[in-house]
Formats: sequence, structure tokens, C-alpha cells
Amino acid sequence: MTHRFKSIPVRSSEITPKGVYLSRRDFIKAAGVVAGSMALAACAPEEVGETTTAPQLNGPALNDELGNPANAYEEITNYNNYYEFTTNKEAVAPMAKDFTTSPWTVEVTGMVAKPKTFGVEDLLSMFPQEERIYRLRCVEAWSMVIPWNGFPLASLLKEVEPTSDAQYVRFETVYRPEEMKGQGSPFYPWPYQEGLRIDEAMNELTLLATGIYGEPTLPQNGAPIRLVVPWKYGFKSIKSIVKIELTDQQPSTLWSTVAPNEYGFYANVNPNVDHPRWSQASERRIGELSRRETLMFNGYGEQVSGLYADMDLSVNY
Ligand code: MTE
Repeated sequence: MTHRFKSIPVRSSEITPKGVYLSRRDFIKAAGVVAGSMALAACAPEEVGETTTAPQLNGPALNDELGNPANAYEEITNYNNYYEFTTNKEAVAPMAKDFTTSPWTVEVTGMVAKPKTFGVEDLLSMFPQEERIYRLRCVEAWSMVIPWNGFPLASLLKEVEPTSDAQYVRFETVYRPEEMKGQGSPFYPWPYQEGLRIDEAMNELTLLATGIYGEPTLPQNGAPIRLVVPWKYGFKSIKSIVKIELTDQQPSTLWSTVAPNEYGFYANVNPNVDHPRWSQASERRIGELSRRETLMFNGYGEQVSGLYADMDLSVNY
């Protein structure tokens, strides 16, 4: 892996003070957020609202490896998709505020030599935390740049020793309807689940994230531990994980169960394959005025295109 994804020596919270945020009201205006009824349009693209300038960070900006500035903490933590709470992106943060994230365990099981249930604090002490500044491209055609803290999923998988039969990894979000009101919705097959092929899971880019900007992840972003797969549409990056299972079957996923013709298992960011209801050729970076072109594999082709060398990505969308 190239050095560009290694941790930086200074905590980003030290160089990017979080004090200079716009008020929530201003932020919503600035981000061009269209309030209201997205309910079943789960994955519908948004109108490009009237936008002003993005919230300014005070101090040297953090950039991704393409030179794009990271989104402000306020943007990252106030514009979320987390259907277990609500389908209203601006309402996730207040609704998730009191979600219990401790104690928390992650069961790693299935086709492994050493199945084990880990406390999140064990994972934090077992694996060095790195900073990865990744683009997140939602299937709804908006995007952000997020400075995550976390560790490679591969480190955890090596610990439990997958057997030679294991070909896929299945992930499951916590099921706690008393705290997550959205789980009362009959439209979705709870708990949220996702999956990766094992070589995707072992790729160096695939991260288990526990922090953002050097701060522990907030509930709205999937605390205490969530997956981040930066070359795939955001829905693959499952939040608040309680179970990871190695298997020889391609796992079913929440979105491919709800709408198989719209959300495939692979879900690689691909500007050449449109969603049946909208184009994927461009995206709205939260905080920007004009749209930008969507990059193949979200700009991570150098690291991941080899995983799909033999596949037709318009069939395996
Ligand atoms: N994980 C769970 N459990 N539930 C969700 O609704 N939404 C997904 C993904 N992970 C989702 C989830 C989608 S569609 C996106 S775009 C990202 O989380 C958004 O992550 P963020 O809110 O941290 O930006």
C-alpha cells in the first residue's frame, strides 16, 4: 500500500478546530439541503438546492490524495443516512443523540479457525488507529470527503483466521427497535446487513472506522464501529456493526432485498452505469455549488480495479 494512506502524526482535531461551524440553520442552507419527504425515495437523488459557500474550516485544511478538502465536521455529522433512526438526513443526528454505544461487542464468526467476540475497546487497543481521508459517494449522487480514524478490516480478519472455504464476509447492524425507531418500519428487512467478497474485505482500503477528525464516531455516523469501503456506494459502508460472519455464500443485503434491480451486491461507484431512476455520471459534493464528475471506483481504481478484471461491471452492478 502506498504511504499516502498512512496516519498523519498530528491529530486532525488539533489542526482543524471544530469551533468554527456555522449554526445548524446556516449549515442546512449552505449545504443546499432540501428538507422534508424523502421517505420511500430512499435512494433518490436530491435536487441541487440553492447553495452558498461551504462552512470554512479554520486553519490548514485536510485534503484527500486528489487535493479535495475534507468536509467540515458539522457537515459530516448533520447530514446522514441512517434508516434505523429516520429517512430524514437532517434529523438523524438529533434522533440518534442518546443511542447507547457502550458497552459494545462485535462477534466474528462463521468459517474461521478462531471465532471470537471482541469488545470495541479491545479492537481499539489491538490495532493501531490510522487516519484515512476518503471520499464517500452515496448512491443518491451526493458526496463528502471524510477524515476517518480506524483500522483495516483485514487486521481483524487475520486475527480470526478465515478457513479456505470462506469466500464472503457478511456484516450485521445492531437490532434495537426500542432505541432505533426506524426499525419499526415494515418496509425494510431489519437488521441492516451488507456483504463483501473476501478479497474486497481484505483490501487495504477497507476500513473499520471508529472515529472522525480524531474524535470518537458519533451515533449518527455509525458509532461505535462501522465499515468504510470507499470505492463502493455509501450503502455498503454499514454502520454500528455487531456481527461479522465469514461464509461461502454471497450474503443477501438490505438494499438488494428491497430493490434488487436498483442496488446490486457489488455497488462499485461507476459513472457509466446509471441507477434505473437517475444518472450516476455526476455528483453534488456537499458544500459545493456545481456538480462534479463521478470517478470510476470513486477514484480508487489503481487500488481496486484488479479485483474486477474478469467481471462485466454493468451486469455485476
Ligand atoms: N448503515 C446502516 N446500518 N443503516 C443505514 O441506513 N446508510 C448507508 C451507510 N450505512 C446506512 C448504513 C448509506 S446509504 C450511506 S450513504 C452511508 O451509510 C452514510 O454514512 P454517513 O451518514 O456517515 O455519511
